[in-house]
Amino acid sequence: MKLLVTGGAGFIGSNFIHYWLRAHPSDQIVNVDKLTYAGNPQNLEGLPAGHELVCEDICDADLEARMEGAEAVFHFAAESHVDRSIDSAEVFIRTNVLGTQRLLEAARRRRVSRFVLVSTDEVYGALGAAGECDEDAALRPNSPYAASKAAADLLARAYFKTHQFPVLVTRCCNNYGPYQHPEKMIPLMTTNALADIPLPVYGKGEQVREWIHAEDHCRALEAVYRRGQPGAVYNIGTAARLSNLELVQTILRLLDKPPSLIQFVADRPGHDFRYALDSAKARRELGWEPRISFETGLAKALAWYRENPSWVESARNDSYRKYYAERYENRDQHLKNL
Ligand code: DAU
Repeated sequence: MKLLVTGGAGFIGSNFIHYWLRAHPSDQIVNVDKLTYAGNPQNLEGLPAGHELVCEDICDADLEARMEGAEAVFHFAAESHVDRSIDSAEVFIRTNVLGTQRLLEAARRRRVSRFVLVSTDEVYGALGAAGECDEDAALRPNSPYAASKAAADLLARAYFKTHQFPVLVTRCCNNYGPYQHPEKMIPLMTTNALADIPLPVYGKGEQVREWIHAEDHCRALEAVYRRGQPGAVYNIGTAARLSNLELVQTILRLLDKPPSLIQFVADRPGHDFRYALDSAKARRELGWEPRISFETGLAKALAWYRENPSWVESARNDSYRKYYAERYENRDQHLKNL
């Protein structure tokens, strides 16, 4: 079988390709990835010959040609970092909205039999101290990133309603695991802690996120592909919810580093307070449930960053260091300039 994967050099996309080709070694995957700052060819090392990387932008590529013979599309490619979308939103609209529409259109013309769109729980917006969102909750995205993902998510719905094109949408909680870019919370805090650099917690660290290991997410995506109803949306969550401060304290404890490394810094503008998914539908209809407990998965992920210093080095390159200095070392000034 042939699959088209977009964004397969990024974090979740590369975990997915490794997962899929381990489980289905004779399948073929065409991986269309623009190799932005977030894509790292090192994430693809060790893959079998069934994987082919095509370095193209989904907004410009001849996607119909790339999809020749493909039975399914798994769409991961996206600008994904909330902080960057606050600084500059345009590229988020181009890649996440226009890119998704181009991909949907090409897949529809090619009559691809399943299109899995990897959306996010951020489309629901923020919750207060209690409650969970199921798939029928209103979409109330708050950051430019979340708004661009909600637009893509609704385009998928429109292609199903208008063209009966078999789209399946997943809305997953926060992922962690190997190959995650260090701009994101867990690798940022982990690699800082390993280097004995302060861990910058936004505000008071009271915001709550729900965490899933990328491998559990990849298994959910396969279950959606095999057993999901075309046109349906599936929340993918674990109910493993922690405040950011609890998470950072746990990382420090697991790495045997002192709590004095924690540094409270100016909050993210418009920072969503809490995300919490009701994932009963995925459990009921797909027979999926997470297998990796948060403590086990986190310890495994931290060990991966500790044991892969050359990957960490390549991810914390000059452009990352420049990004970090602007956002963190001059944080107040950076936020004032927005
Ligand atoms: O919920 C799913 C989403 O999770 C995905 O759709 C996004 O693509 C992904 O980036 C992630 O969004 P978050 O904004 O939740 O992830 P991030 O790792 O940026 O931040 C997680 C939490 O940690 C958030 O409340 C902000 C906080 N934070 C983050 C960074 C980078 C800090 O306190 N300090 C930091 O330096």
